[in-house]
Amino acid sequence: MRKLIYTLRESFSNNNISKIAGCHNPLSAKLAQEAGFEAVWFSGFEYSTSMCLPDASILTMSDHLSMISSITRTIHIPLIADCDSGFGDANNVAYMVKEYEQAGVAGVCIEDKVFPKLNSFCDKKQDLISTEEFCLKLLSANNVRSSKEFMIIARLESLIAGKGIEDAVSRANAYIKVGADIILIHSKASDVSEIKQFINNFDSLTPIIIIPTTYYKTTIEEIHEISPNIKGVIYANQGIRASIQAIKSTYANILANGTSEKVENDIISIQEAFLYQGMEEYVQNYEYLKREFNNLL
Ligand code: SPV
Ligand code: MG
Repeated sequence: MRKLIYTLRESFSNNNISKIAGCHNPLSAKLAQEAGFEAVWFSGFEYSTSMCLPDASILTMSDHLSMISSITRTIHIPLIADCDSGFGDANNVAYMVKEYEQAGVAGVCIEDKVFPKLNSFCDKKQDLISTEEFCLKLLSANNVRSSKEFMIIARLESLIAGKGIEDAVSRANAYIKVGADIILIHSKASDVSEIKQFINNFDSLTPIIIIPTTYYKTTIEEIHEISPNIKGVIYANQGIRASIQAIKSTYANILANGTSEKVENDIISIQEAFLYQGMEEYVQNYEYLKREFNNLL
């Protein structure tokens, strides 16, 4: 577990940008790991979508933790947990951090919106809590973590809430003072200019993470040129959006053709699915146990 946590700080201290993929269950996390992403983001959006529930603090901390624990048992790359607005106040954050650290999470990301929160792309009024109230959450996380290798990521929603760059910068400075290791600045603009403006006004070497969901045309190279302090880019939801699309077209094809023949070459084989299950190890282990039993008797 320690090694996982160390790896996240390690990858954020070198000169590269860590590419981080959204996930919502062990399979989606394993696919991200297999593709070569350096870390995964347990996405509230993906998890809510997979449960057919709004990304609006409906799923509880325990719901999140249960799925996260299954994921950390499955992968060996670091997991960053999207903790929405911390599932409550500073005391809820303290409980969460203890539980998440135990579960092998590499870092928690808490956003400065109200609880319950609404997904940042939801076209409704987005409300922030005060700087002081959010700093209490960060202080609380900082006080209870057992290792400094467990990262506290403060997510700024000023740009999402229409509060502007000045508000974002002044909050970011406060958040760092109370123990945030990383700043995640979120934007729903269709280009990266807002992010650039924030970074030009944010005079700090603190590592920054961004989520280019709406400004998807911006490449990793362009992001790297904006600032060497951008250490992570999260592709937060493309995985589940792709899988929904693939399942929809597969099912439509089967119903249209009255057979699954036409989709057979476009879907993985049962044998390949067994690889994700770890079926081979299971079978071998059973054989091993039988041999061991025979030797002992
Ligand atoms: C998520 O993936 O749940 C996020 C990112 O928090 S966003 O959906 O852009 O708010
Ligand atoms: Mg989220």
